Amino acid sequence: MPLTITAHEILDDAIRLTWSDGRESLFHHVWLRDNCPDSRHRETWERIDDVLSFDPETRPTEAALSSNGDISITWNDGHRSCFARDWLRRHCYSEPARLEHRPMPTTWAGGPGATPPRLTHDAIMETDAGLLSFLEILRDQGCCVVSGMPDERKAGEALAQRIAYLRETNFGVDFTVVSKPNPNNNAYTALELPAHTDLANREMPPGVQFLHCLVSDAPGGESILVDGFHAALLLREENPDAFDLLTSTPFDYRFHDTEWDVRWRAPVIGLDADGALREIRYNNALRAPLNVAPDLVKPTYQALRAFVAILRDPSNELHFRLGAGEMLVFHNRRVLHGRAAFDPNGGARELHGCYVDIDEMMSRIRVLGGDNLLA
Ligand SMILES: [Fe+2]
Repeated sequence: MPLTITAHEILDDAIRLTWSDGRESLFHHVWLRDNCPDSRHRETWERIDDVLSFDPETRPTEAALSSNGDISITWNDGHRSCFARDWLRRHCYSEPARLEHRPMPTTWAGGPGATPPRLTHDAIMETDAGLLSFLEILRDQGCCVVSGMPDERKAGEALAQRIAYLRETNFGVDFTVVSKPNPNNNAYTALELPAHTDLANREMPPGVQFLHCLVSDAPGGESILVDGFHAALLLREENPDAFDLLTSTPFDYRFHDTEWDVRWRAPVIGLDADGALREIRYNNALRAPLNVAPDLVKPTYQALRAFVAILRDPSNELHFRLGAGEMLVFHNRRVLHGRAAFDPNGGARELHGCYVDIDEMMSRIRVLGGDNLLA
């Protein structure tokens, strides 16, 4: 049953609508006039008029429900606007509506027996519904293991390209994670890699990481995942001062070799304009010397130690062995990944990786869901 407008009232600076489910929406006159459908191009749906093109004190002289339930407004300068009720409801900015529109990730702990969600390669490749399920898992839970991967080096990239084009970095469009001579990155050794986010040294770290396991014969090398949002929420609960410091104090990160020197400075825990968790940026291997005001040095180390202790707590870690023919996919700006040390003399270990950014993942979810066709 579509929602209808059951009452409307012109107030001093807004119109109040009451909906058939009881919710009330206040739409300010200036907001309505700015969003008059006539202010947009009829085909591109992009704006043509800007905020200087109308009097900000303009107000309606009349508001009326039309026979199809939409609302038409006559303004005091004679202009008329007709607003579709579905559009108004989608763009309601009341407190409850704004809360509903906020992303609600499903955070998770780890511990013995906890495993990442799993899907099959064919389910994702063969239907759009399968691709959408996969992307919704990545959006909400931040990780997924894809099984049944073809034994081909390009299979992971082909699956990633179901979403969109790949994100290139200084490591290339794709990269191979093996222990090799003269490594320029700890990933290219056989060392343990504590949980981290990739490329924390960039203004925009890659969004989604794909790691396709082609060979997994070396003893050791088990995968580790930690939900950085879960860890951040635990820190906020246990140590609010440390949480505040890590959301406000920038850390310097740097990658450099003979060809590159890429640096960025940002907090470990990133919040959005509403104060909600936006990203985790933590990579100990790339962490540069701390560069903050002297009185913040000791508290910042204490805060970082408190957060890293949560990240390292086994009850927050997923531990599993990624086998040949499986691909680990995770939200690199939320979920930290790592691996145990492995013995390169005991067998081969080879992962093939690539990235896709969050914009492209979210866009694909909206397009598959038909949201892109809504005004
Ligand atoms: Fe990594």
